[in-house]
Amino acid sequence: MSNPDYAAYTKTVIDSIGPGASPRAKVVFPILIKHLHAFMVEADISTEELLAACDMLVGAGKVSDERRNEVLLVSDTLGCESLCDTLDSARAARAADKAAAGGADPDSPEAIGCSAIIGPFYRTGVPEQPNGTSIIRHPEPNAPYTFMHGTIFGSDGKPLPDALVDIWHDAPDGLYDAQTPEKPEYHCRGRFRTDKDGKWSAIILKPTPYPIPYDHQAGDMLKLMDRHPFRPAHVHLWIHHPKHRSFVTQIFNSDSEYLKDDAVFAVKDNLIVEYKPISKDYKQPHGIDGEVIYELKQDFRLPAAV
Ligand code: BEZ
Ligand code: FE
Repeated sequence: MSNPDYAAYTKTVIDSIGPGASPRAKVVFPILIKHLHAFMVEADISTEELLAACDMLVGAGKVSDERRNEVLLVSDTLGCESLCDTLDSARAARAADKAAAGGADPDSPEAIGCSAIIGPFYRTGVPEQPNGTSIIRHPEPNAPYTFMHGTIFGSDGKPLPDALVDIWHDAPDGLYDAQTPEKPEYHCRGRFRTDKDGKWSAIILKPTPYPIPYDHQAGDMLKLMDRHPFRPAHVHLWIHHPKHRSFVTQIFNSDSEYLKDDAVFAVKDNLIVEYKPISKDYKQPHGIDGEVIYELKQDFRLPAAV
């Protein structure tokens, strides 16, 4: 073939999709095939490169387990999880506009566009603990202890009792609990429930920037692209309430490195927060290994249920 008809070939592959494909598959696969073929033609991909990509995915699958999802990590380094988060927000905004046009209460605009990716370090089964208590379960004597507190509002703007706040962040060594099984379970991770006024609070640490795991395929890809693996310092939150859509976000320290070049592209301007010095009137709690030196107040308004 001196002058292959790539467009006709792509059409043949798309036309092979049968009538029994689901409505969503009928939308997704033609678009996937169209762009995948266009990418391969434009980049002039060789069979050797295709096989290397397949090997990379197989390898990523092999090193994945319930503590580590290397495939998600690979997608993160390509910006895919953050792009999905942006698409989810845009979809929610369209649904809210439609509901408002039909006379329903508009969704909370504060919740839309304030979400962020969940990442691979979320863990289920974390026990609930009383408000104001510490999630630091391993001695961290010189760490920047922080009193974090806030109010969770419902989509109607009223304080929301009984919302569950899941919170997790890295330890001062830049590692999550799942990466340090020698430390007590759930170090720097906790669950809190809002009181009758929608308020919750916890003792956390001001987090530190850290590299995403780069010892396997995601790291190999970063090297191929001459990129660093670092994320700016952040706290993860997942807020649940039975009458609302659950809400996943991250909040980033305003003085952190890597805000402009997050390895997984998750930073949004409205998620950057300032840690303030703790007030002199704050009563230092018993039973922690250091001194609370910062205060972080952050309220959230949850999106309405769909
Ligand atoms: C995280 O923030 O925990 C994370 C997100 C994406 C990739 C790796 C880590
Ligand atoms: Fe993280």
